[in-house]
Amino acid sequence: MNAASEFLVETINLTRIYGDGEEIRALDEVNLKVAVGELVTVMGPSGSGKSTLLNMIGALDKPTSGQVLIDGEDLAQIQNKDQFRAKTVGFMFQLHNLIPTLTAKENVEVPMMGHLGMSERRKRSRELLELVGLADRMDHLPNQLSGGQRQRVAVARSLANKPLLVLADEPTGSLDSSAGQALMGLLRDLNQSQRTTFIVVTHDQSVARQTNRVLVMEDGHIVREDIIGSPMEEDLKMWRYSGLGRRIIREDEETELTLGLSKSQLRAVQELLKKADNSIL
Ligand SMILES: Nc1ncnc2c1ncn2[C@@H]1O[C@H](COP(=O)(O)OP(=O)(O)OP(=O)(O)O)[C@@H](O)[C@H]1O
Ligand SMILES: [Mg+2]
Repeated sequence: MNAASEFLVETINLTRIYGDGEEIRALDEVNLKVAVGELVTVMGPSGSGKSTLLNMIGALDKPTSGQVLIDGEDLAQIQNKDQFRAKTVGFMFQLHNLIPTLTAKENVEVPMMGHLGMSERRKRSRELLELVGLADRMDHLPNQLSGGQRQRVAVARSLANKPLLVLADEPTGSLDSSAGQALMGLLRDLNQSQRTTFIVVTHDQSVARQTNRVLVMEDGHIVREDIIGSPMEEDLKMWRYSGLGRRIIREDEETELTLGLSKSQLRAVQELLKKADNSIL
């Protein structure tokens, strides 16, 4: 770890333009900083540039202009991109792309091939599958696993080389809501226990709410950012934007009566609600 850099990921005026004729500015001068150990989500409408952003950060594609710094090092200066990707970044995509003819255990071993010996690979693969709760499914083929279990194999695989950073593009997209919640719980645990930094693209607000920070993209820009507070703060935010919360803020008399609060009590609740930050969630 480079002691000089405060941020694991930093983008400076990151721009990606597609097309020769009519230009599409998929990313337009994006400046983003992600600290070590953060769990950040990226939301935004289809075509807003979320996947493009992940592709640039993971060195899967080159920017048209601007820079990506990983742990203070400019990606453009890194000669061996394959090695960088293999060692520093774990990728998780919606379609988990497991190799159908390999077992769960073998799939997790794939990224370790080439730099770890057979027995070490096997050992780490077992540990990772235990970590994601699949100790009893190691020898199953992907088509013998449920969608949620396959996605957990993909999580284990993305962690194979102890990456500093995991880039996840709609990892819960193909899962039902309970499997999606379970997967997010797992990512949160890994984020806390291993200090792995995660950048997760999602369309699901309940997923976003379980992370530290939500970035919202539109037309190639980060247009909003929301820090997720403690559960209590989040409840207050929810309350603030509910019908009742709005009425309390308006000091609606009927609400005073319904709640049976005195003026000063109502004022106190009002203050609390007003302090609950403006939230997209
Ligand atoms: N290889 C490409 N060639 C040309 N245009 C592209 C290419 N990849 C993406 N784009 C365009 O860049 C813009 C951003 O695409 P991107 O895939 O980053 O969106 P996204 O936010 O991930 O959307 P979604 O939620 O649908 O996955 C879109 O207008 C898209 O059509
Ligand atoms: Mg996308």
